[in-house]
Amino acid sequence: MDLRYRNTESELMDDPNVAIDTLRLVFNDINKSNRLLGGNRITINNVCKLIKEFPRKQYTIVDIGCGDGEMLRELASYFRNSEIEIVLIGLDLNENALAIARELSVDFPEITFLRQDILALKPLNFKCDILLCTLTMHHFSNEQIPIFLSQFTNLAKIGVIINDLQRSALAYYLFKGFSAIFIKTKIAKHDGLISIKSGFKKKDLITFSKDLSHSAHTINWKWAFRYVWVMETARLRQSYE
Ligand SMILES: C[S@@+](CC[C@H](N)C(=O)[O-])C[C@H]1O[C@@H](n2cnc3c(N)ncnc32)[C@H](O)[C@@H]1O
Repeated sequence: MDLRYRNTESELMDDPNVAIDTLRLVFNDINKSNRLLGGNRITINNVCKLIKEFPRKQYTIVDIGCGDGEMLRELASYFRNSEIEIVLIGLDLNENALAIARELSVDFPEITFLRQDILALKPLNFKCDILLCTLTMHHFSNEQIPIFLSQFTNLAKIGVIINDLQRSALAYYLFKGFSAIFIKTKIAKHDGLISIKSGFKKKDLITFSKDLSHSAHTINWKWAFRYVWVMETARLRQSYE
């Protein structure tokens, strides 16, 4: 397997004709993997760090490529008993994903879901302090990514948190074993492997960051085979660990 370059094969879940009931099961699998491997926790920790660094009474957090909205529900639950007021907005291209997200979020009035193509982002008609993009950037080519990253840094007043997969042979083979035990749908098994092949090496992320010189960048590797890339748009500082 040659992982020097990012895979360009599409994922099955990106087909807009996937039935809503099938998509629901695929998101169940993705959420199970995130729960077992701690994927969303990484984003929540970094939201907390930004909040600590840039204290306000109220924050609007926008999740692009929000899928079924699990990340936003976890954030809402995390901040429910805090003094900070959180407004949460989920954006996704897929109407079925948004329908599932709305259905699962009936008890979360602080979350709104809207249809938006990441490749056609315009100035938002709502505020955005922190912008999240989790397991979504790897769906796009090296040519498409810079287009929306520069929009992200324009839109987010405080920062952008990208949480995505490391392109790694070890991750690929470990996921094969993991998915044989824990993943139910064929789509999630297939797309999980494609996703790892479409993921990133640290040098890819550093290359993208070079065009975003108005933000301070921190890129860290996290278990399990994730990179978390935080762009502080509110501060100009470059630090690669
Ligand atoms: C692997 S899912 C990630 C979902 C969620 N963020 C998570 O971490 O579980 C990728 C999401 O990106 C969305 N997506 C794909 N292309 C998109 C586009 N052009 N604009 C907005 N969302 C898109 C898909 O519909 C899907 O919900």
